[in-house]
Amino acid sequence: MKFFVDTAEIDAIAELNDLGMVDGVTTNPSLIKKSGRDILEVTKEICDLVSGPVSAEVVATDADAMIAEGRKLVEIAENIAVKVPLTWDGLKACKVLSGEGHMVNVTLCFSANQALLAAKAGATFISPFIGRLDDIALDGMELIEDIRTIYDNYGFETEVLAASIRSANHIQDCARVGADVITAPPAVIKSLANHPLTDKGLAAFLADIEAANIKIL
Ligand code: E4P
Repeated sequence: MKFFVDTAEIDAIAELNDLGMVDGVTTNPSLIKKSGRDILEVTKEICDLVSGPVSAEVVATDADAMIAEGRKLVEIAENIAVKVPLTWDGLKACKVLSGEGHMVNVTLCFSANQALLAAKAGATFISPFIGRLDDIALDGMELIEDIRTIYDNYGFETEVLAASIRSANHIQDCARVGADVITAPPAVIKSLANHPLTDKGLAAFLADIEAANIKIL
């Protein structure tokens, strides 16, 4: 399973990238706003840092304007994936931009039928939002499973990019049901390393190291 980092914070991406944990990056208008940076400038910096796909979202809502913005975004770097919303206009833009050979990430997906449309429109990635479904007492993980089944039934090559991930459990469940990619905030990715028994075991070892004055260097 590929790990994308869901942020526009350069330092956080660099830290995980140095560990080989970054297969790509996703951004959205809210993350760009949070960074306080110019979208084109920060996106270029991310693309210079990371070799995998970097999703940059259009801001227009009609197909022709989305296509024009997408064409401008792909000039930033070869690894740009143009992110378009799952609207009828977004699907039109997806069809045109993917037909031109560009990677397209169709975002704001909340149903399996929407995911089916995105695959038929040639999306490289479909982004179903787990956390926002869980927020309204629906089952985000069930959506990931449904899309996985439907894409496998028909051999669609669109990658299932599980988004709106809020916890380590979300990531483990995505791996279990076969999401191709997860995108998560840096803190959630780092939290995968945490386990109380690791902390407890290390504390015991450190006590013995001190008691026995064990040294290696
Ligand atoms: C990624 O592509 C999405 O924009 C992101 O995961 C949304 O996450 P949120 O629901 O926590 O804002």
